[in-house]
Amino acid sequence: MNTKETALKKFADRSAVIGILGLGYVGLPLAVVFADAGFKVVGIDPIQSKVDELNRGSSYIIDVPSNSIEKHVNSGAFTASADFSSLRDVDAVSICVPTPLRKTGDPDLSFIISATEELAKYIHPGMVIVLESTTYPGTTREMVQTRLEEVSGMKTGKDFFLAFSPERVDPGRKDFTTINTPKVIGGITADCGEVATAWYRQAIQTVVPVSSAEVAEMAKLLENTFRMINIGLVNELSLMCDRLGVDVWEVIDAAATKPFGFMKFTPGPGLGGHCIPIDPLYLSWKLKTLNYTARFIELASEINTGMPRYVVSRIQDALNTQSKALKGSRVLVLGAAYKPDIDDLRESPALDVIHLLQQKGAEVHYHDPFVSHFFHDGKEYVSVTDLLGEVKKADCVAIITNHSAYDYPAILANASLVFDARNALGKLGRDNSKVFKL
Ligand SMILES: NC(=O)c1ccc[n+]([C@@H]2O[C@H](COP(=O)([O-])OP(=O)(O)OC[C@H]3O[C@@H](n4cnc5c(N)ncnc54)[C@H](O)[C@@H]3O)[C@@H](O)[C@H]2O)c1
Repeated sequence: MNTKETALKKFADRSAVIGILGLGYVGLPLAVVFADAGFKVVGIDPIQSKVDELNRGSSYIIDVPSNSIEKHVNSGAFTASADFSSLRDVDAVSICVPTPLRKTGDPDLSFIISATEELAKYIHPGMVIVLESTTYPGTTREMVQTRLEEVSGMKTGKDFFLAFSPERVDPGRKDFTTINTPKVIGGITADCGEVATAWYRQAIQTVVPVSSAEVAEMAKLLENTFRMINIGLVNELSLMCDRLGVDVWEVIDAAATKPFGFMKFTPGPGLGGHCIPIDPLYLSWKLKTLNYTARFIELASEINTGMPRYVVSRIQDALNTQSKALKGSRVLVLGAAYKPDIDDLRESPALDVIHLLQQKGAEVHYHDPFVSHFFHDGKEYVSVTDLLGEVKKADCVAIITNHSAYDYPAILANASLVFDARNALGKLGRDNSKVFKL
């Protein structure tokens, strides 16, 4: 049997050992999905404390229940390790490492580079590698393939197989998770695509093969750019509606009754998370190297990044109606996570809102049922415990993240002024002189 036939057989009979590089929001659920499908899975992450926690059968990712880790650790189907030499015994690897931005706004590929360097040490004939980290088109071929071939002397599509498959997981979502969200896969060669597809089909309900790694890389960026631009559009709509004196939320709800040709997006205090604020900038950066300006991305990014400042100016206006200055006012921010019902603070606009409020002299407190404390700009913030007591004491309650656990009627009843950046109060907030909405 050649390398391709051997790999296909190992996936078909599930004897392949799977490696997951990076055990975060993407890698850990994927590891569980492969273990659930009957594969032996080795998860590798350089952070020893994460490895130890997982090997104790405990999960630090909100979407992955500890009992699913415990079950697979006890049966031997899943082990975590900080030792990259475990890759020696692995047949197929998914790379799920972070792809953030540098302070300058340029892509930071250092995690993909370091993961590739580790892989290059242990790559062996027949190995199948899938890059899952979101990145600009060309990364899998230009960076991963080139380096792996350079170090190993092996040939992609013949000696080993390499593909790109973007992760689309939406943390906190219950209806679509890793197992039932269709997975796009594009290989460096046709055989790479075929082998990687055969692997993922053993565990994921729907796999969508495409003709190249670049199509798969670009498809992910289209999805996230689509969201980012549409959020930019409704954020600008909220600025326009404010000037027009029209309720933007009612406008959007009315438009959303159209059964075709419209998709509902809602405004908010800014973009958050590891994907939407970042991924489109990977694309615009790549295009800049080709002397092309991605104009829609630049414009939407400008509007979205201006939202925290706009929210603060609206809180200031709201306080003004009660003859209060922002400076010296006590503001209680509800929600620090970037979206409802999760604990993820990455790129959260709440952090910008808090920072800007403080800069203007407000006394800021926060509450988040999912985030008991956090560090930002070298300072520790601790969630208040007596929520309604703090609501009563605040000059303004700013709803920044609309967690569903909040008792909004009680918050409204106890507050003297509310700024609602998410329309969390809905009808309760209408025609109420102490409620101001985005
Ligand atoms: N979080 C999401 O909702 C989401 C959704 C779709 C796609 N993505 C993309 O998936 C990728 C991973 O995102 P995430 O949210 O899981 O990140 P994360 O920060 O939650 O997890 C990444 C993990 O990789 C580990 N790591 C760092 N360097 C490593 C290395 N060299 N080898 C092995 N492990 C290493 C980190 O310690 C961390 O545990 C990113 O490219 C992201 O854009 C994320």
